[in-house]
Amino acid sequence: MSTATMPVSDRKIKIGATKLLINNEWVGAESGRTFESIDPTNGEVICHVAEADEADVHKAVKAARAAFEPGSKWRKMSATRRGELLYKLAALIEANIDELAKLESIDNGKPYAVAKAADLPLTIACYKYFAGWADKIHGKTIPIGGPYFCYTRPEPVGVCGQIIPWNFPLLMQAWKLAPALACGNTIILKPAEQTPLTALRIGELIVEAGFPAGVVNILPGFGPTAGAAISGHMDIDKVAFTGSTEVGKLIMEAAAKSNLKRITLELGGKSPNIVFADADLDAAVEGSHFALFFNQGQCCCAGSRLFVEEKVYDEFVAKSVERAKKRTVGDPFDPKTEQGPQVDKAQFDKVMSYIDAGKREGAKLLAGGGRKGEKGFFIEPTVFGDVKDEMKIAQEEIFGPVLSIIKFKDLNDVIQRANKSIYGLAAAVWTRDIGKAHAIANGVRAGTVWVNCYDVFDAAAPFGGFKQSGIGRELGEYGLQQYSEIKTVTIKL
Ligand code: NAI
Ligand code: MG
Repeated sequence: MSTATMPVSDRKIKIGATKLLINNEWVGAESGRTFESIDPTNGEVICHVAEADEADVHKAVKAARAAFEPGSKWRKMSATRRGELLYKLAALIEANIDELAKLESIDNGKPYAVAKAADLPLTIACYKYFAGWADKIHGKTIPIGGPYFCYTRPEPVGVCGQIIPWNFPLLMQAWKLAPALACGNTIILKPAEQTPLTALRIGELIVEAGFPAGVVNILPGFGPTAGAAISGHMDIDKVAFTGSTEVGKLIMEAAAKSNLKRITLELGGKSPNIVFADADLDAAVEGSHFALFFNQGQCCCAGSRLFVEEKVYDEFVAKSVERAKKRTVGDPFDPKTEQGPQVDKAQFDKVMSYIDAGKREGAKLLAGGGRKGEKGFFIEPTVFGDVKDEMKIAQEEIFGPVLSIIKFKDLNDVIQRANKSIYGLAAAVWTRDIGKAHAIANGVRAGTVWVNCYDVFDAAAPFGGFKQSGIGRELGEYGLQQYSEIKTVTIKL
């Protein structure tokens, strides 16, 4: 473990671990290689982090397998004790909330105040929620008839690979680790190469909380090397992935070609956000602004196809543009900042290329459209009006601060058009008419539908995608089920 301090603006940030966590020890990569973690605010190197590849994955799988052996400390531990360890971890995160929020902000670029008010509390709540489940995961007795006694026994799946993205590093780690640990699995977690630092700091807290060696192994590294070694490994029983649909398909293929490991995938989206003329228009403007621009637009469930009913289209667009122009973009450590930089140069370039595509295809640029400042990866809050369904910016995931506003006629028209997407992660509707709200909630093919709100998350409410937005659910009781195998036991009496 290395600790160093470095100045950021006028603040000191504590950097935690920068090596691999294998078997509760901090070790360098077998190859000796490291990679840079970059501060997207200025493009400067924060620190160097050990770079795992296949050799390190093998090593970690051995440790995780040993920790999963029958008779191991972890397997013998009571379910209640597993829950206590998760509560302890939640308490340690809470005790270090300020430091973690700063680290998340510097590594990802999200505003520090947002990390502290949203990412951290949601992370802590997730660990606590699944801590409570640990000793409430039980089977059923089933009346199969005859002279038989039949019951089910949920058992942990085994060694789980977990590959997470960079947009909510701490929260995505919690969504993966908490249910898997509640069920008694052991884990190899790979954070995204853009944002390894908070995952590693949580690794230190996991060791401090008292989880036995080998239960959680954390391997920062790149997708095609460390990530592919996990998804194709013959001795990993399950892989859980959050990221692009493109890589989700590679994961599924690798799982099929290796040992048919179980998969859960939480992938991209192009979520319709529908505003009817009868809505509370100011609430809809603000809610739709938040739905797209929150987290620099880097949300899998971003409300990136904003459908507005004809009758209020002009009024809504004017208000929406005014709101976007007021959005404060800048230093993530300034408390007034609403929007920081995009996570890295690649994402910055990708978003800018979509802005070009919008202009080329004839959408009306109403706000922003350019880079902000000369340093770092900042983009102006951008709004396109008169967007047509078939335009690239209405079909592909932009993952940046670019809002596409589309006009619609009526309920039937909009349901049909909302469903014209390869994705089905989330949707929202703004209306005072309960009938319309239900029609959208039932008619749109998406894993989550919000009515007169957006991005309301809770560890108890399942989340995941229809169609190419993924397979399986995370959070809640449904999320828990993805980390158990059901065993049926039948006894002749
Ligand atoms: P990505 O899907 O490449 O990366 C996500 C994670 O997968 C990272 O940990 C990465 O190292 C890993 N990975 C990459 N290639 C892999 C492979 N071949 N095998 C195993 N693991 C692999 O996403 P990326 O490149 O960071 O962003 C590209 C686009 O993906 C974004 O612009 C956005 O549209 C989408 N995305 C969606 C997210 C979501 O929350 N659903 C999160 C991040 C990105
Ligand atoms: Mg990628």
